[in-house]
Amino acid sequence: MKILLVDGTIVGRKTGAVLEQVKTYIQDFRPEMELEILSLADYDHQFVDGRPLGEYNDSMQEIARRFKEADGYIIASPIFQGSIPGVLKNTFDLLHPHTMRYKPVSIVANGGTYQHHLVIENQLKPILDYFRSLVTPNYVYTHTSHFDADNNIINEDVHDRLRELARVFVQYAEMSTHLSKEALDID
Ligand SMILES: Cc1cc2nc3c(=O)[nH]c(=O)nc-3n(C[C@H](O)[C@H](O)[C@H](O)COP(=O)(O)O)c2cc1C
Repeated sequence: MKILLVDGTIVGRKTGAVLEQVKTYIQDFRPEMELEILSLADYDHQFVDGRPLGEYNDSMQEIARRFKEADGYIIASPIFQGSIPGVLKNTFDLLHPHTMRYKPVSIVANGGTYQHHLVIENQLKPILDYFRSLVTPNYVYTHTSHFDADNNIINEDVHDRLRELARVFVQYAEMSTHLSKEALDID
């Protein structure tokens, strides 16, 4: 099983740091899982405007291909202006609506304001619901104060929540293998 761990920002370090930690915890539960990080910072982004995929640059096509080939996802996002970064929304806009259908997804997010964990509930989850992903009931929101100056996670509760997220994610991944991706409705 191939899992894509998506670092949904092109600036900052904490989102990537949380993602690396999740990767380690998933590996602890399922060493055989293939875990790949896709960092949006490594790509040359173009605005998605509805043109056919083949008319975007190689970078955009590679992002779409990597999403399509994955069997599950960890989506990591910082909070920008009370929302997700534009580059992450632009990436979702690039994908065919079936790309993440019936595949497991867990969310981790990071922000400077505690209350902005609601961005996950009110903005990120609805997008993943639109994709009909199997979104785990657990997500983890980290705050700037949970990190030291080198962006290591220093809060033990956060580590426990990330371990629990990883535990539930691998169960969802297992469940998803029993759910056919063939749909009976037309779209
Ligand atoms: C343009 C911008 C807007 C931001 N807006 C918010 C916000 O609305 N709410 C919030 O909690 N944090 C906000 N932040 C803080 C980021 O979420 C924080 O920088 C990010 O989680 C990653 O931390 P890092 O940059 O140290 O890696 C913002 C940061 C930037 C750069």
